[in-house]
Amino acid sequence: MDLIAQLAKEIFADQSPGGTPSAGSRPASGPGISDYPTDAQEIAPPVHPAAPVASSPTIQPVESASGGHAASSEEAYPFGEPRCYRNDDQSSGKNAGGSSSSAALPYTSTALPDSDFYFLRGNEVSGLSSLPSVPSRAGHGAALSAFDVESIRADFPALQQKMNGKPLIFLDNAATTQKPQAVIDATSQFYSRDNANIHRAAYELAERATRAFEGAREKVKNFIGAADAKEIVFLRGTTEAINLVAQSYGRKNIGAGDEILITTIEHHANIVPWQILAEQTGAVLRVAPVNDRGELILDQFASLLSGRTKLVSVGHVANSLGTINPIEQIIAISHAYGVPVLVDAAQSTPHMPVNVTALDVDFLVFSGHKVFGPTGIGALYGKSALLEAMPPWQGGGHMIRNVTFAKTTYQNAPEKFEAGTPDIAGAVGLGAAVDYLQNIGLAPIAAYEHELLAYATEALQSIKGLRLIGTAANKASVLSLVIAGHEPEKIAEHLDQQGIAARAGHHCAQPALRRFGVEKTVRASLAFYNTKQEVDVLARALHQLKKA
Ligand SMILES: Cc1ncc(COP(=O)(O)O)c(C=O)c1O
Repeated sequence: MDLIAQLAKEIFADQSPGGTPSAGSRPASGPGISDYPTDAQEIAPPVHPAAPVASSPTIQPVESASGGHAASSEEAYPFGEPRCYRNDDQSSGKNAGGSSSSAALPYTSTALPDSDFYFLRGNEVSGLSSLPSVPSRAGHGAALSAFDVESIRADFPALQQKMNGKPLIFLDNAATTQKPQAVIDATSQFYSRDNANIHRAAYELAERATRAFEGAREKVKNFIGAADAKEIVFLRGTTEAINLVAQSYGRKNIGAGDEILITTIEHHANIVPWQILAEQTGAVLRVAPVNDRGELILDQFASLLSGRTKLVSVGHVANSLGTINPIEQIIAISHAYGVPVLVDAAQSTPHMPVNVTALDVDFLVFSGHKVFGPTGIGALYGKSALLEAMPPWQGGGHMIRNVTFAKTTYQNAPEKFEAGTPDIAGAVGLGAAVDYLQNIGLAPIAAYEHELLAYATEALQSIKGLRLIGTAANKASVLSLVIAGHEPEKIAEHLDQQGIAARAGHHCAQPALRRFGVEKTVRASLAFYNTKQEVDVLARALHQLKKA
């Protein structure tokens, strides 16, 4: 770590205010990969699932108005548009949307005995008892039993239902996640009590709605460790956020012959926007390869960086394989070449601590619905200096400073990128979701899921003909698999009959799957409300398939 810090210090001596190295800092020929630590132990990722509580710096909430704009800020709002916070509300951090997170629940009490799991009680086990048993697996347990998953499950109404007569086992968390009651309540309370359009009215209800919305921005800022709420742009989700960066930052800074570097295992949302940009500008998309386990080959990634590279855009966790990319190293190496980095954190933010300040990442994007919040809302984090230098990408209300037919001037970030009425209730729900996650703690969640994934990986070993696609040493959440002689869709249908919701398909990552010679897999993706008993049911169902 010291080596990188020292290297970065030297190279970024003339760094621009936003932390992005200026063009002048680009080394004539970049350092070879051997100049960087490659051992994951050497650069201990603060986000490794097994990591203890992140060593990231604690970012104190800014004392001034949340959302970064005091109601009196004439400079940002020359026309008196926003009426954000009353001073007496700022310190509490509470929003009027009533995001009632289930704080102070005993999430780390002792686990219940196996027989107490709801789906093993009484008659509810019908149909499962005929399934062959999976050999018991020793060696998994510390984090699994320290985490009170039953209390957590009680917070999720959707998990309490049956599918095809069996208790629902929701294993499609990489696609979307279920919502805790706190999120449902926050959203519904917003509509039943606080609904008004934001920023533009003088009456009390609008002020309350604005407070709720900007309060959510502050919560998201704290969730990802940003320095300032102005660095958080509310958008529809990861896809829209990457498109914004491509069309705003990209159109301004990336031209013919310039290169954008991604990896083989990206979600389509981190491929297609760059292809569109490349078609528009003549830029070139470069793709860093992965090895047979689905791990980024770091020296080949580094060798693809050059004076032509203008942006690196990588997924933190690959949705089709579960690979955790070494983003600390990716960012350090890219910065050494003066190249800014976008991290697609859609699949990491639900599972592990992520801190943009510790990472020194330039852009980071994620979706509300994958962090147990509502659909239709997500966030783009961008370093202030980068966001301020970027042109708007959509025009309309709220993003303007002054409109005449001759010329329109724009607000600063984030308003500049939030044209029109946003998903206000969605933002409030997202605020409640990140409160909920932080009350449990992302580090305990990561530790629990890490053991659950190890347990599940082992459980699947004994299934004949099963091949796991994606066997990286650092993995999160995802079990992507094919079974010889069985179509993925048929496997998913069979699982559905057992109440198990798992996905079959290409998972919006066709190039990633094709790297492994498959078009489709069955993907079981875990969240912190899943249990090892559910994993056992999955394994039994797959064993049963063998006999079909
Ligand atoms: C890694 C990754 N990136 C981007 C996306 C797109 O997210 P959204 O559909 O919420 O915009 C997903 C969704 O599965 C994803 O897994």
